[in-house]
Amino acid sequence: MQRTKIHLLLERETPLDDVLIKGWVRTRRDAKTFSFIEVNDGSALKNIQVIADDTLPNYDDIRKISTGSAVAVTGVLAASQGGGQKWEIQASRVDIISLAPDTYPLQKKRHTDEFLRTIAHLRPRTNKYGAAFRIRSELAYAVHHYFRERGFRYIHTPILTGSDCEGAGEMFRVTTMDLARIPMVNQQPDHSQDFFGTEANLTVSGQLSAEMFALSLGDVYTFGPTFRAENSNTRRHAAEFWMIEPEMAFCDLNGNMDLGEDLIKNLLRFVMDQCPDDLQLFARFVDKQLMATLENIVASDFVRMPYREAVRILEKAGQKFTYPVGFGRDLQTEHERFLTEKHVKKPVIIYDYPKSIKPFYMRLNDDQETVAAMDVLVPSIGEIIGGSQREERLSVLESRIMEMGMEKETYWWYLESRQFGTVPHSGFGLGFERLVMLVTGISNIRDVIPFPRTPGSIDF
Ligand code: 4AD
Ligand code: MG
Repeated sequence: MQRTKIHLLLERETPLDDVLIKGWVRTRRDAKTFSFIEVNDGSALKNIQVIADDTLPNYDDIRKISTGSAVAVTGVLAASQGGGQKWEIQASRVDIISLAPDTYPLQKKRHTDEFLRTIAHLRPRTNKYGAAFRIRSELAYAVHHYFRERGFRYIHTPILTGSDCEGAGEMFRVTTMDLARIPMVNQQPDHSQDFFGTEANLTVSGQLSAEMFALSLGDVYTFGPTFRAENSNTRRHAAEFWMIEPEMAFCDLNGNMDLGEDLIKNLLRFVMDQCPDDLQLFARFVDKQLMATLENIVASDFVRMPYREAVRILEKAGQKFTYPVGFGRDLQTEHERFLTEKHVKKPVIIYDYPKSIKPFYMRLNDDQETVAAMDVLVPSIGEIIGGSQREERLSVLESRIMEMGMEKETYWWYLESRQFGTVPHSGFGLGFERLVMLVTGISNIRDVIPFPRTPGSIDF
């Protein structure tokens, strides 16, 4: 017989004579002549209740089934006599696939997120993490669905790269050279002897490659892992995270903002429709305001505000910030959260940032001082999207690269795209983990990615 996923049984309208389920035991309770076994197979938040009668031939063994054990149960799906659940399985057979010893760390009680991080290999078996990773999966699907419906092509941009997209030098190096015997020339590592014959890194963003495809296929996006070697131990930074990066030809900054706003609203709506049970868990146990926050984001028009105005507002906020505010200084999380949570009380898009705090590829505005950048800020997270209209004018782009002390030669192909059929174009990066945080109310990025990579930590 084929196994049926438990969520399909729980959704049924009518009973079933013969079913087989397989899963992991959450609890076992014994009554006088039978045992209740709660089984979860990860297909849904809810368990299915199994009734195992003492007439079963292996009933002695069944009474030894412990939390965390794996079982296969055959029986009848019948209306449950007890309260609390619609269906139960009256077992005709219970096979023990494997018995977990009582050292299984997830005994039935609440565990802290900090403890669960130390057992990241087992935490998806808890209600909360199971729900978080089902939602993460649905969101990833929704991203592809969203773009496909709108004629965007999915581009697999490389992960190994020779260029630094953000120009911030926060890259992990990739080498096959023997670190104990690095060949040197002029006291520098001789990368001509390295695997690629030159320096290589893990990418911080797929944008530069995506731009080449936007300038060929029109509307494209990339969605993949990105890496940042920034040594910041915050609850919203990871060294390895996933980013969604659309890139659109013939699109200016306004069109870019429109897409960012529409994408976020759409993805939120998708999860609210598709994952009501999992979402309810977060609304009940993680963030009591969650549903109100999500409803508010979906219903509101995002406020659009130039950076200059944001700085003015922050200066007059009458609030003590840890980091100083002023034109030319980057906005810190505390500033971003003040703007979106306290000032406008909904998402806000800040645009036209000073060129001095943004990467080389952003389009220089006529004031020669700001660039056509835009960051989308949302409550409790701060920046969730960073993007811009791109500098499509060859000479301006070249001088920006030199101004920033970067090597023109490395970017020769990027510059050529501005020589051959250059057009206005725009794009942005949406941090996928920050999106999962927004949707679930989970406040630490370490808890929305299966195996988090942060400074000093690469277990599992
Ligand atoms: O603002 P960022 O650095 O923009 C770029 O990388 C552009 N090249 C994207 C583009 O225009 N195609 O990063 C974009 C988003 C941020 O808004 C944030 O949500 C997320 O990526 N992000 C991080 N998420 C987790 N951990 C980190 N260390 C992150 N750094 C950025
Ligand atoms: Mg940014």
